Amino acid sequence: MSQKPSYVEECIKDYKYIFQPELLRGKVAFITGGGTGICFTIAEVFMRHQCDTVICSRKMDKLRESAETLSKATGRRCVPVQMDVRTPESIMKAADTALSEFGRIDYLINGAAGNFLSPITGLSFNAFKTVMEIDAHGTFNVSKVIYEKYMKDHGGVIVNITATLQTRGQVLQAHAGSAKAAIEAMTKHMAVEWGMDGVRVMCVAPGPIEDTEGMRRLSRGRINDEYVKGIPIQRMGTREEMGNTVLYVVSDAAQLVTGTVLIADGGHWLSNPNNYYQTKKLMQKKSQL
Ligand code: HXC
Ligand code: NAP
Repeated sequence: MSQKPSYVEECIKDYKYIFQPELLRGKVAFITGGGTGICFTIAEVFMRHQCDTVICSRKMDKLRESAETLSKATGRRCVPVQMDVRTPESIMKAADTALSEFGRIDYLINGAAGNFLSPITGLSFNAFKTVMEIDAHGTFNVSKVIYEKYMKDHGGVIVNITATLQTRGQVLQAHAGSAKAAIEAMTKHMAVEWGMDGVRVMCVAPGPIEDTEGMRRLSRGRINDEYVKGIPIQRMGTREEMGNTVLYVVSDAAQLVTGTVLIADGGHWLSNPNNYYQTKKLMQKKSQL
């Protein structure tokens, strides 16, 4: 039975070009998690620069709706493909579909992820495993398939979307932080082994990005003026800024950049409070822990 999408993704109202509008002409991007949130906007920004896209995740209804929205706004092709990053067979089928539709995959964006707030004692064995499998195994699975099916012979750029949770052991985020740390290590291994085939492998680590499922889940209504003023640039990031950041990373301007992490968070990870004692007290008061 098909699932009904909960809300409709919207394109940027007044996109201002920083890079040449034809920057990605003739290229194709394969974007996991591209039906929603940050990765929907990465797809949009790429398409506004003449790239065609394949967006993949579990919910086909949502993907179809988002693909239509993206194509209408940009005039480029966007092919929705159902795929679970935990299932190699579904990834191979999705990659075959992408290659039969477009004949190439120049960029892979690994954005699919799962997350929620939980202390370590609140995580069942399966809860930890589930997030590791979506984020870390998922990134490995999709990268291996796309590399072996296409990039090994033609080069390309892989961008893994991570986070800054793992840099200081963010409270209530042991599962997602561990998974993102694994992805950042994996990125170095892949960059080293695949560099000679013309494949660059990078991470982009967003901080708090407004209007996203990630922030809806993790903030639980705790985003207020004090939180925002605690970010060095005095505001949260936007999805458009994440799109532009990833656009830079895949562009030829970043040809020397591989095997590393570009943190795009306005300095948030440097100043964000990370006090388990206080967080616990606050959440106990709200009966959330
Ligand atoms: C504790 C939880 C939990 C919670 C689920 N589980 N939610 N445990 N606290 N809030 C446990 C379940 O009880 C179960 O364990 C196990 O996790 C698997 O749950 P399922 O629902 O069976 O898994 P699945 O259907 O595969 O869904 C995965 C999911 C789900 C992660 C749980 O929420 C999802 O599909 N999320 C995708 C969208 C998403 O999360 N977007 C945000 C990404 S943002 P048991 O033991 O009971 O079987 C992000 C932000 C990073 O990553 C940083 C921001 C600053
Ligand atoms: P989001 O909209 O919930 O994006 C997650 C996507 O992953 C969804 O489209 C979901 O689609 C897909 N997905 C989940 N499990 C999957 C699976 N097993 N197989 C295939 N696809 C799967 O969240 P977001 O907030 O925009 O986050 C996007 C990325 O940015 C994530 O990697 C996240 O960790 C990272 N990030 C976000 C923030 C933030 O502020 N939001 C901060 C730091 C990092 P389906 O449900 O259809 O499968």
